[in-house]
Amino acid sequence: MKTEFAPSLLASDFSQLKDQIQLVKDADYLHLDVMDGHYVPNITFGPGLISAIRKHSQLPFDTHLMISKPERYIKEFAEAGSDILTVHLEATDHIHRVIQLIKEQGIKAGVSLNPATPVESLEFILPELDQVLIMSVNPGFGGQSYIPQMTAKIAKLKRMIVENNYQCKIEVDGGIKNHNLQEIVKAGADIIVAGSAIFGSADPAQALAEMRSTAADV
Ligand code: DX5
Ligand code: ZN
Repeated sequence: MKTEFAPSLLASDFSQLKDQIQLVKDADYLHLDVMDGHYVPNITFGPGLISAIRKHSQLPFDTHLMISKPERYIKEFAEAGSDILTVHLEATDHIHRVIQLIKEQGIKAGVSLNPATPVESLEFILPELDQVLIMSVNPGFGGQSYIPQMTAKIAKLKRMIVENNYQCKIEVDGGIKNHNLQEIVKAGADIIVAGSAIFGSADPAQALAEMRSTAADV
């Protein structure tokens, strides 16, 4: 299957959001990193900003909630225009209930795992998930280095999905650049998140096109 790309707006110029979004209009999703200063040390933006940019993009919004107890805000982030809502397994006491809440909003549901959280922890909810987001850095900041052990983790999750014939996609987020993209795709990533590799480049549209062709060569 063709690798999909989700540029992360975190690395963009926040003073020019409308124009920055246009630069990646050929992507498959727009990745939106929501941070609350509690679950992760950084603070970004909330549903107000997402609904403001919704009218400037045709892309599906892939919202990555790095917030404590995400069950409190599922409705707000769905109504703001998210097409996929991904929550951290580690951020809630009741992950299955949160998945149900997301699905009740009629949108896709994902669960994210921090680098130290094993994929086996998803065994009993995997059939209900549209995607799993493997964090390949510690969540909170863009521009960090890919943690090499995450490649084996992606491969292990891929086996769980294929063996059971689940529909769930694997998204990988953090430290992905042209030099490590192929090993990540080979391991089983379906969706690649890239922040600094795209918005940190002088020509984000070109950077996205280059990553697509690198992934297509696998
Ligand atoms: C980090 C975020 C990522 C971040 C990735 O907590 O979840 O989406 O934007 O940035 P890069 O690609 O620069 O590592
Ligand atoms: Zn993210």
